[in-house]
Amino acid sequence: MMKTLMVELGDRSYPIFIDGGLLDREDVWGNCIKKKGNVVIVTNTTVCTWYLSRLEESIRRLGLKVSSCILPDGEMYKNLESFNQIMTFLLEHNCGRDTTLIALGGGVIGDLTGFAAASFQRGVDFVQVPTTLLSHVDSSVGGKTGINHPLGKNMIGAFYQPKAVIIDLLCLKTLPERELAAGMAEVIKYGIIWDKSFFEYLEDHTDDIWKLDFDVISEVVYRCCSIKAAVVHEDEREGGIRAILNLGHTFGHAIETFMGYGVWLHGEAVAAGIVMASRVALSRGSVSGEEFERIVSLLRGNRLPVAKPDSMTTDDFLRLMIHDKKAVNGKIRYIIPDSLGKSSVKDDLSLKEIEDATR
Ligand code: NAD
Ligand code: GLY
Repeated sequence: MMKTLMVELGDRSYPIFIDGGLLDREDVWGNCIKKKGNVVIVTNTTVCTWYLSRLEESIRRLGLKVSSCILPDGEMYKNLESFNQIMTFLLEHNCGRDTTLIALGGGVIGDLTGFAAASFQRGVDFVQVPTTLLSHVDSSVGGKTGINHPLGKNMIGAFYQPKAVIIDLLCLKTLPERELAAGMAEVIKYGIIWDKSFFEYLEDHTDDIWKLDFDVISEVVYRCCSIKAAVVHEDEREGGIRAILNLGHTFGHAIETFMGYGVWLHGEAVAAGIVMASRVALSRGSVSGEEFERIVSLLRGNRLPVAKPDSMTTDDFLRLMIHDKKAVNGKIRYIIPDSLGKSSVKDDLSLKEIEDATR
């Protein structure tokens, strides 16, 4: 049965639909897009081979004109050039303000398309159709959009909410295992920052998740989206609590930038970052040795790295983390678990703690 959630943001509120087969459900689509104007699907060379024609068909059945902008695949293309390629496509197709963009793909396509939607003619509608686990549980919800700069990850962007998020769980069937693992890093993150019982659910259901058991995956995606929707409702523009969604990301973004975009997947870098943040919590006594080991073991059990790249030093981390968007007055801020199931922002890490965490 279809699960539905709302991200409550006043007149910018929007639904999240979760089920198998939603790409073909024109009844769902009919409720999510305007009945006029151009519809432009933005996707990439990989995802288009699996899912584009089905989505185009559903939109056509609504009587709408649809065209598709197909970008190269990869984190290294989440950049100004791809953004410009979308702008050129929209202008060449005479798109106006009544255009709806549909992001069909993982977080890279979602972030790029959302930023294009925020920028084209100062803002057009967009719908997220995430196709990776990571984008099901995280990037498609909450309106963070943007692109990378060679000097820093996600440094250019906008808060811009979609009109709807349509999650077709059956897309996970074609997802490579390494990408499923990367998504699990963000899933596990929710357990650590928000909900110990969810962390335990993940410990108990790792095998079912990897078998893509429909009921378990549906529950996992629903619980993650519920947490994210609640946090974004509370703090849309990250003035406060939303920052906790970045557990592991301060260290993780530094890894991604250092290694070159796409060498370590975002989720892999976040997993190593979660271990670093948890090591600080362990040294402060806010998580026990047993809890620390459970965090490491759940990440490892989901085929994720639990240590930084060998070639990276503490100095490399510090040099790159200073660009982190959470930094205030040049002070780097980290999300550190207060216990298993609760985390908060800390800006008082000593050099020794950072050295120990990044060793
Ligand atoms: P991705 O978009 O690069 O997708 C991963 C790979 O899987 C790509 O090669 C893609 O073509 C392929 N793919 C996608 N769906 C597929 C499917 N169903 N079957 C087969 N292959 C498929 O990576 P991602 O992990 O989805 O997203 C990572 C990005 O998301 C990063 O840029 C990260 O910064 C961003 N992100 C954004 C937010 C946010 O709040 N906006 C949150 C977390 C992450
Ligand atoms: N992924 C972090 C956030 O959406 O705030």
